[in-house]
This record gives sequence, structure tokens and C-alpha cells, in this order.
Amino acid sequence: MTRRSVVMGCGGYLPDNIVTNDTLAQRIATSDEWIVQRTGIKSRHVAAEGQTTSDLALNAAKAALAHAGIAADELDLIIVATTTPDNTFPATAARVQAKLGLTHGFAFDVQAVCSGFIYALAVADNFIRLGQATTALVIGAETFSRLLDWNDRTTCVLFGDGAGAVVLRGVASEGKPDERGILSTHLHSDGRHYDKLYADGGPGSTGTTGHIRMEGKEVFRHAVQCLSDVVDEVLLANHLAPEAIDWLVPHQANQRIIDGTAKKLHLPPERVVMTVDRHANTSAASIPLALATAVADGRIKQGQMILLDAMGGGFTWGAALVRW
Ligand code: UT7
Repeated sequence: MTRRSVVMGCGGYLPDNIVTNDTLAQRIATSDEWIVQRTGIKSRHVAAEGQTTSDLALNAAKAALAHAGIAADELDLIIVATTTPDNTFPATAARVQAKLGLTHGFAFDVQAVCSGFIYALAVADNFIRLGQATTALVIGAETFSRLLDWNDRTTCVLFGDGAGAVVLRGVASEGKPDERGILSTHLHSDGRHYDKLYADGGPGSTGTTGHIRMEGKEVFRHAVQCLSDVVDEVLLANHLAPEAIDWLVPHQANQRIIDGTAKKLHLPPERVVMTVDRHANTSAASIPLALATAVADGRIKQGQMILLDAMGGGFTWGAALVRW
């Protein structure tokens, strides 16, 4: 029997505290005009003091489980994609498992920075298709505000905190083309670009927390190319024309990068889910947050073809095609 991973539900969580561009402009040499023009970002959410990545993840998990109509104890796999774990170890996923009151199944983190959710989705899909898990919770959760150098205007205006989650369930597949579920996942990395986007410190072997350092223009250039290539790869692998895509739900780093990918797919802006204006770049959380937003407001509907793509530090990049 072959199996498919069907998305049963999704949910998101954003911290209460909203920081606008104007607030940032009071503290550093920037302006709302510069940030909006270069990135599309207008505001971002920032976690409260003491609020950790697992707190955000738990709220998103509860929302996704409620939306799916699935009880937490039905889960047998929890994956958290994060670059900002509560602690160096254990995995934030293990904390989420405990906070959900679970003692069965298994939980671990995936670290692929802004591509983390696509990586985690691919890992969960493979576990499900191999029969090693049946009901999986895949979370992207970040508190990037803790990694920012708030005096570095080239990075601190770009990021926000948040979490999003999906619940996947393995169902028997008859191989019919209109079946719901994850149709394909595509992962890539090229570690030569390690120093173009990184945190200059721990956790781990250096013992310091560190701050984000980025060669913005270089990252931008690679993002456009990598995303363009991986979108082609998805269409080719699934024998689809761009018109078959109902919704592009991309990683939300910069409106100009998203517009570039949409243009390549000949997708009008009305078929692209854009949250970067209100969420900024929430790294691994951005795609599930965008999914949760567009499902909640009724744009994404069952049976539609959804293309997810992301690129981030490493470099890592990837995409997934899902019949919702
Ligand atoms: O999710 C992971 C992937 N990350 C990304 O995808 C980010 C990709 N990169 C980008 O989105 C863009 O490169 C940025 C938004 C980061 C920067 O935009 P840019 O058009 O590449 O600007 P730039 O770095 O070339 O900077 C242009 C000018 C510079 O001033 P000078 O040297 O021309 O005098 C910067 O110092 O803008 C200045 N600048 C700012 N000015 C006001 C940089 N940051 C700011 C700021 N406010 N926040």
C-alpha cells in the first residue's frame, strides 16, 4: 500500500507586541519609506520577555490540532523547524511534546533556517510514506528578535517572531491524480555560502549567542535564482504547467523576491499569499503562518494546488507541492 501525507489542518500564532517601522525609526537611522520600498515590510510581531520559541510553537500546535479536529494524543511524530531553539538542547520539539502532555511517539528539531519548514515537511512526509509515523505535527517556530543586533539597521528591520503548524496524516493512496496530499518535496543546499547569512556565535561550540550577519544583496541574488530553479523542478517533476498552481505560498523574506517568483510562474498577485507586510521575515515560521492566514480567511480551499518555496542561510532552499 502506498500512502500520502494529507494536510488535515493548520494554525498560527503571533505574539501580541507589534513593532512598526516608525517605532524602529525612532531608535535607529531608518525610515518607514526605506523599509517598505526595499522589502514590503510595515510591521512585525516581537515575543514578550520570557516567551520562548516552544511557547509560540505550542500555541500554533493547538490551533492546528483544533483546526484539524485531531486530539494531541493521536500524534506520533512532532517536528519543530527552528533556528532559535529554547536551549541548545534538548530539542524544542521535545518541549512541545511535553507541553502537549504526550509521552509516546517521537519529537525532534530540524535546522535549515528560513527553509526549515520545507525541510521539516519533507522529513515528516517521508516518515509517513514509509509507515514509521501516521499523524505528524510539523511546526515552524522562531524568536528571531533574540538573534538580532538591534543597532544593525541592515538586519534588525527585516525579521519578526511567530509560529505556524500543520497536522499531517498518512492515508492510503490509489494513485489517482486528484488525491489530496503532499505530491512532492525538493530540497537543496550549498554550504559554500555559509558566511553570507549566519549568526556570529552559538549555540554550540562557540559559547556565545551571536547575532545575524548578512550580505543582503548576495542573499537576494541567490534567492531569486534558487527559487526560480526549484519552482521549475517542481513543475517538471509533476508534469505541470504554471497555470496549474492555484496558490503560491512562499517564504516571506522580501516582497521583491516573492514578486519575482510569481512573475516567473505567470501568477497574478491575487494568487500569491503575502504576509511579509505584517509579519516580516519569521524564518521557518513564515510559510505555515502564511498558510494559516490564507486558510482562515477562505482563500485556500480543499483540492487546490499549493506551491510552497523557501530559501535561507546555508544556503538552503526547497519547495513542496501540495494538493490541499
Ligand atoms: O530569509 C532569508 C533570506 N534573506 C533574504 O532574502 C534577504 C535578502 N536581501 C534583501 O532583502 C535586501 O538585500 C535587503 C532588504 C536586505 C537590502 O536591500 P538592498 O536593496 O539590497 O539594499 P542595500 O543593502 O544595497 O543597501 C542600500 C543602502 C545602503 O546605503 P549606501 O551604502 O547606499 O549609502 C545601506 O546602508 O541602504 C542602506 N540601508 C538602509 N537605509 C535605511 C540598509 N539598511 C537600511 C535601513 N534603513 N534599514
